[in-house]
Amino acid sequence: MSKVVKLRDLYIDFFVSKGHVQIPSSPVVPENDPSVLFNTAGMQPLIPYLKGEKHPLGTRLCDYQKCIRTNDLDEVGDKTHHTFFEMLGNWSLGDYFKKESITWSYEFLTDVLKINPDRLAVTVFRGNDLVDADKYSAKLWESLGISKDHIAYMDESNNWWPNMELTGPCGPDTEIFYYRTDGDVPKVFNPEDDNWVEIWNNVFMEYMHNPDNTFSQLPRKNVDTGMGLERVQAVLEGVDDNYKSSIWTNIIKKIEDVSNKNYVGNEKSMRIIADHMRTAVFISADYASIKPSNTDQGYILRRLIRRAIRHAKKLEIDINSDFESVIALAIIDEYKKYYKELEENKDVVLTVLRDEKVKFNRTLEKGLREFEKATRNLEGNMIDATVAFRLYDTYGFPIELTEELAKDNNLEVDVEGFKERFKKHQELSRTASAGKFKGGLASSGEVETKYHTATHLLNAALKVVVSPDCHQKGSNITAERMRFDFSCDHKLTTEEKEQVENLVNKWINEELVVTKEEMPKQKAVEIGAEHEFIDKYPDIVNVYKIGDVSMEICGGPHVKNTKELGHFKIKKEEASSAGVRRIKAVLE
Ligand code: SER
Repeated sequence: MSKVVKLRDLYIDFFVSKGHVQIPSSPVVPENDPSVLFNTAGMQPLIPYLKGEKHPLGTRLCDYQKCIRTNDLDEVGDKTHHTFFEMLGNWSLGDYFKKESITWSYEFLTDVLKINPDRLAVTVFRGNDLVDADKYSAKLWESLGISKDHIAYMDESNNWWPNMELTGPCGPDTEIFYYRTDGDVPKVFNPEDDNWVEIWNNVFMEYMHNPDNTFSQLPRKNVDTGMGLERVQAVLEGVDDNYKSSIWTNIIKKIEDVSNKNYVGNEKSMRIIADHMRTAVFISADYASIKPSNTDQGYILRRLIRRAIRHAKKLEIDINSDFESVIALAIIDEYKKYYKELEENKDVVLTVLRDEKVKFNRTLEKGLREFEKATRNLEGNMIDATVAFRLYDTYGFPIELTEELAKDNNLEVDVEGFKERFKKHQELSRTASAGKFKGGLASSGEVETKYHTATHLLNAALKVVVSPDCHQKGSNITAERMRFDFSCDHKLTTEEKEQVENLVNKWINEELVVTKEEMPKQKAVEIGAEHEFIDKYPDIVNVYKIGDVSMEICGGPHVKNTKELGHFKIKKEEASSAGVRRIKAVLE
């Protein structure tokens, strides 16, 4: 690597010297915008202020913002794509406008970063029915030292941010390009030439695209600029592979160490591991407290970790070693100076990664064998939806992972068919959980009520005997038996089963009183009541206590005293799905 550029620090220092206040990076999940899973741009957390609200820290702001874009996730593995990236930005909220914005951008690039202006080119807005051509910006660039041949007028598909379709604050922009190769800079700027890399975007945000599809003037004229840190860092350090910039040096080195292989020749898997692990570290350290799951942000986190593990396996890394911690610690080290949550939540990060690895590792081998078996004698090249769904449901393979495996083998997956099955599966589990909120009972006869109370005791006993991390994942009760699914990373041993059974029976024999108390959901959570899917409960909930051994948010009904239950016996313990075990038990 040729040189190391301290781009982030230089950027912030420069804009602070121009009267900006540095604001902290917002959490990766937008706080006021449920329409997206993650922040995808530096301006996202500032939308209310761009619309006109007063920002407590003034009218000139700058920061580096954690961003995550998942639309190109499958592209990661090449030289330029990342799921997590940082965006450097500076904003004027009704303060300065085009003149200062462009002048300071030029000053930062040429004076601070010492870029030769000949290597720079810009695009400006050509104009449309709504707004005139941005001759002002073009002239300004020229007056600063950008040659006329390096200024291109482009239409709204290039120079309107975010685009003409999305509603919200928007406006024309001027984009800055850098000629990346050592060769002679072309006299005339051609934006189609890949050697011209976009490094900065200055948006003149003075319009509001309203939901009724009209455009109006915002109360104030704003400036919103964004510079993708990793891309510009690579360009400035003179590398054509983003992963060769100084940002990645130590992280890639650790991946080389744990795999005992060189980056050269293994670029794709190493980039995927580096990128996905970095994103997983940032997501799991974030104040939004996301955990791997099968929905929304949690599903992205799960997909990232599982894909990284598959590539670790491809590199013949020993999955049972603590390789994921070694890499995660290198990532934390790289960033902890800028993101203190990484250090603060280090243990959470390492646990999330390890637990998800252990969960996936238990089914990965079997799933891969299942994949091989299913594809060995395949007629044609389409993998059936049943196979894809089994890989998902039983072996925890995100559909995208199955698609990737298929692609590696020149096969395709019936994704539509998978989605249909998935929908059916969701409907079924929704029905099941709707049942759960009624109390988990098909009917609430006397026997079912007893079983219901027994599920609470079982839930509590598992926490004592097996792990405090065991939580209910579902339950189904008939007059003949109870079925109880719970999160757990291993098959219960005979001793564990016996101890669980004994503890439940001990509590039954202690004749514990069952009480019910109505309270606000928030309070129930605060006092530590066991619950599932918290968002789905009403604001006021019932909390059932059994002596002092169990406390759960629940719709009931329950017996009055555990002595009514008789004798509890486990009939079967088996896998339900990845990371979930199932107990079938009876009351005799
Ligand atoms: N919002 C613009 C972008 O993301 C400039 O910050 O490119």
